[in-house]
Amino acid sequence: MRHSTLRQLEVFEAIARLGSFTRAAEELHLTQPTVSMQIKKLTDAVGLPLFEQVGKRMYLTDAGRALQAFTREMLDHFARFEMTLADMKGLKQGRLRLAVVTTAKYFAPRLLGLFWEQYPGIEVALKVANREHVLERLAANEDDLYILGQPPEEMDIVAEPFLENPLVVLAPARHPLAGEHRIPLARLAQEPFLLRELGSGTRAAIERTFAEHGLKLKVRMELGSNEAIKQAIVGGLGVSVLSRHTLGLDPPLGQFAILDVEGFPIVRHWFVVYPSGKRLSVVASTFLDYLKDAPKHSTEPN
Ligand code: PGA
Repeated sequence: MRHSTLRQLEVFEAIARLGSFTRAAEELHLTQPTVSMQIKKLTDAVGLPLFEQVGKRMYLTDAGRALQAFTREMLDHFARFEMTLADMKGLKQGRLRLAVVTTAKYFAPRLLGLFWEQYPGIEVALKVANREHVLERLAANEDDLYILGQPPEEMDIVAEPFLENPLVVLAPARHPLAGEHRIPLARLAQEPFLLRELGSGTRAAIERTFAEHGLKLKVRMELGSNEAIKQAIVGGLGVSVLSRHTLGLDPPLGQFAILDVEGFPIVRHWFVVYPSGKRLSVVASTFLDYLKDAPKHSTEPN
């Protein structure tokens, strides 16, 4: 039995499944004499007949049935092993195209770094843009995965939350409201406000919160990035609401105060998104699984 080959078992499996030598020969693109020869060798190796002919029909003998069960299991294992090999090759040479919203740049590179440690052969193309541009890329299917603060409702996508994204009220450390408790939102609305550019997801979330309370922001300045806003806060130009992740690389709070305003932090989530129906590459689906474990990796601002 140990001398029978994988090919012989494949031929046997096809005959047992199709109930015919002729059809098995067709499926495997072999001639009929070749099929008969393979089965003869296999039967000799087993030492018992595998088929019996009754009239025109062919049946499996008991030994044939036992061999059929064994062969199926073995071919299954073989197929799984082939998949594992393909995955390994994929993860050695793969490429990951990732588009993330600007605010995600505070933690995405750190997560990528940890991922790289496990799969050093992978090449990563990271595109950082505001929400509007990331959504354009998603619509054009330009990347493997997208990270954003809120999944778009109007698109047919798969979206998985993987990390909390608390939005906090940031003011300069010496701000008069620093240290006060439960500051009403209406009081915050009186402060000069620094707002992200149109198209920013953070901006959309802030505007929604104020609109829900029938309040209007007193916008002093519109700035195109979280960093510019942070500099303006430190410079005393106003207050703002930003993701707590934007403090990631600063010493703990340092020049900032987080104001205790009613309704804050607004707890949003980071989502990893891709068009539904998209066949993810091995690399992309591995990174997706890795992201879903993100809270276990170190992503806390330090
Ligand atoms: P943004 O997106 O960087 O465009 O503000 C962040 C978000 O959607 O939460």
